[in-house]
Amino acid sequence: MAGSHAEDLTDLPPPYRVPEGSELELKAPNRHQKRLRMLAQMPRGGRCAEIGVWNGAFSDYILEVTRPRELILIDPWDLLSDRPDGEQTHKKHSDDAFMGSMRDHVAAKFAERPEVKLHQGFSAEVLEGLPDDHLDWIYIDGNHLYDFVKQDLAVAARKVRQGGVIAGDDLFWKRDGRMHVREAVMEFLEEAGLERKVDHIGQQFMIPVVAEIKKTYAAG
Ligand SMILES: C[S@@+](CC[C@H](N)C(=O)[O-])C[C@H]1O[C@@H](n2cnc3c(N)ncnc32)[C@H](O)[C@@H]1O
Repeated sequence: MAGSHAEDLTDLPPPYRVPEGSELELKAPNRHQKRLRMLAQMPRGGRCAEIGVWNGAFSDYILEVTRPRELILIDPWDLLSDRPDGEQTHKKHSDDAFMGSMRDHVAAKFAERPEVKLHQGFSAEVLEGLPDDHLDWIYIDGNHLYDFVKQDLAVAARKVRQGGVIAGDDLFWKRDGRMHVREAVMEFLEEAGLERKVDHIGQQFMIPVVAEIKKTYAAG
């Protein structure tokens, strides 16, 4: 049964300390505190994935706070430069050299961390490659446009075990007068027959993976 990953706290990696005064802490201390509070509620010692890694700064905190047995990091990095403009939601996404250097930076930073698995690619495709119910929780922080979040949520519903958590960032992110992430989250809940209400700490949302979600989004 996949349901017991998080309870089994044996065989954890050694303690890992986040460098003091990290960029995330310095740039936006309030937001950082909220993200840490969200992390404190995630399963410990489990299998998790971060969709959208950028320079891996938040991955450090996932490791430090939740001590996962496996952390799957997914980001296309420089593969984004070949995608249509609409998919490039940040000006740096079209800068091949910059995105490639971030991929290299993340690879070097976690080279000695066997529990960290790096996947350069697009979230839905990479997640599809995992067995169903493999993950205890996931953090969705990739492309924030509605269609992408909708797809990330639907695939995550199959890949996270019942009793696990689908969490994510930027619930109130706005583009062209729409809150894409919020819209996608509300529809995801509604389609599963659940109330249009989500637990959140600031922009950090947390959806418990209940039976209705597993049933609604089951493959086929
Ligand atoms: C907001 S940043 C992630 C920040 C990171 N989670 C942190 O907190 O430090 C968004 C990331 O999503 C990545 N991204 C864009 N489209 C994606 C997709 N389809 N699948 C996975 N990641 C994607 C971008 O390359 C970028 O690194």
